[in-house]
Amino acid sequence: GKLRKTFRWMWRLTYLSVFGLAGYTVYLIYDDRHPEPQYEADPSKKTLVILGTGWGSVALLKKLDTENYNVVVVSPRNYFLFTPLLPSCTTGTIEHRSIMEPVRAILRHKKAAVKYYEAEASTIDPDRKVVKIVDNSEVKGAISETEIPYDMLVIGVGAENATFGIPGVREHSCFLKEIGDAQRIRKKIMDCVETAAFKDQSSDEIDRLMHMVVVGGGPTGVEFAGELQDFFEEDIKKLVPEISPRFKVTLIEALPNVLPSFSKQLIDYTENTLREEKIDIKTKTMVKKVTNNTVEAEISRPDGSKERVVIPYGLLVWATGNAVRPIVKDLMARIPAQKDSRRGLAVNEYLVVQGTRDIWAIGDCAVAGYAPTAQVASQEGSFLGRLFNNMAKTEAHESRIQELSSKMNLQAGNAAEAAEEIEKLEKQLRRVKDIKPFRYSHQGSLAYIGSEKAVADVSWWNGNLATGGRMTYLFWRSAYLSMCFSTRNRVLVIVDWLKSKAFGRDVSRE
Ligand code: FAD
Ligand code: NAI
Repeated sequence: GKLRKTFRWMWRLTYLSVFGLAGYTVYLIYDDRHPEPQYEADPSKKTLVILGTGWGSVALLKKLDTENYNVVVVSPRNYFLFTPLLPSCTTGTIEHRSIMEPVRAILRHKKAAVKYYEAEASTIDPDRKVVKIVDNSEVKGAISETEIPYDMLVIGVGAENATFGIPGVREHSCFLKEIGDAQRIRKKIMDCVETAAFKDQSSDEIDRLMHMVVVGGGPTGVEFAGELQDFFEEDIKKLVPEISPRFKVTLIEALPNVLPSFSKQLIDYTENTLREEKIDIKTKTMVKKVTNNTVEAEISRPDGSKERVVIPYGLLVWATGNAVRPIVKDLMARIPAQKDSRRGLAVNEYLVVQGTRDIWAIGDCAVAGYAPTAQVASQEGSFLGRLFNNMAKTEAHESRIQELSSKMNLQAGNAAEAAEEIEKLEKQLRRVKDIKPFRYSHQGSLAYIGSEKAVADVSWWNGNLATGGRMTYLFWRSAYLSMCFSTRNRVLVIVDWLKSKAFGRDVSRE
């Protein structure tokens, strides 16, 4: 009897929470589709120009009270991209549109209107306080280049792919940074498989075409290699069995181990798991040259000798980290205080670009002493949002104090009332003005390593917790799901996960 009662209650609770969750999701979707009316920006306010629609800039926009400024956003990409799930798009575990959020939809939810221009900022002139912008998209109007004057400028343009000037990389390899890159890889994997299965293909050629080489053992390279091996094990093997024994993934890393930023224990766990998955890990191997079908690398042997090897490949994915974008390099060259900075714009503790006034930098293009991650970029963006909201409040308080003081001098009768208000405002002003410098709070690092396993280095109380395995994989999934930009993204990602699990990944090459 008692057990049955408990069971009945548990059943009711489950029922209620499922309905509750469904109801809440419907409400969120409705809310998304029906934003409140928006009012026009006030032209008398300062113009705040934001470059980029990535992690840093979007976090800033989310926090910013747009009614305080004339906000203008410039980016060649009219959407925000949730990069942590980008490796899953290369194999079709997730469809690319599920991790994109249109910037127009983001801006429509702000109280005051924000202008958006789909363009690339090509130069910044800090003396004239203008940004030159260029429309590099396929469709161009009569005007495709112009200038935007700014009072305040935030640079959040991210970084580009590092190639270290290694010959052949740009011409022959795929990168993994943007949606287009993931689509290109997805297409190329299937092209390699279908070409390997072509009638009378020679054995050497099948081996080459089925060899997928990943250069760079950072989180991007490791996650991609894991996704690729999953795709092969779960789908390609079943659909193209005749050539499947020839499929091989090689991960090349110049340093002695992969995932250098993770703890030792997780590095070992990752390397062992990748080996179990039959991924060939070549550490202490530096790629020196790339041709259209081979990679030439130098292996450092334990005795100090070096050996040159030539590795044939069908698909080559290059993931060796970040390089500075030309617009950032150009600005750095104009500012004497930036002459010693190599990896991006050196900023102070309030994220102001050193040697400039009214220019801030966030994310991968800024050097603030932190790793170039989404976590850092979004915390920096949120910090600037709060800073700008405070600055606007400070200015409003100061001008009101000035107004009241001049009134006090003119009309002695209201002096007591005005003095009281001034005192109140000054108190508030002190609180608002007391803005602490930016401090990054590290929540931990997560990476997917294939075969439904993930590794996590997370902050736990005052220490660090390093875990790896299937439970960590569930944690990885729920953490990334909760971090998705919108309810729409979240629902689409869940549907994609279920779809690829139930029906397998779609191997059509479009
Ligand atoms: P981005 O997000 O790159 O955005 C830059 C924006 O600037 C883009 O909108 C771009 O179009 C725009 N832009 C470029 N040039 C110009 C120009 N000239 N003018 C105007 N706009 C311009 N980090 C994590 O913390 N966790 C993860 O799990 C994780 N996974 C990742 C997976 C992959 C595959 C990759 C590539 C990166 C991953 N990262 C992760 C790193 C993270 O994506 C970056 O650190 C983060 O995107 C940096 O944010 P950002 O705003 O500086 O730049
Ligand atoms: P990375 O800079 O972390 O790693 C690049 C790797 O390539 C390095 O280990 C380097 O030694 C190696 N390399 C460089 N040149 C080479 C050569 N010629 N031959 C062989 N190996 C070479 O780059 P990645 O993975 O693209 O990450 C960029 C940033 O984004 C990092 O800050 C990373 O933490 C972050 N990120 C985080 C993720 C996560 O938390 N899950 C996922 C992806 C990226």
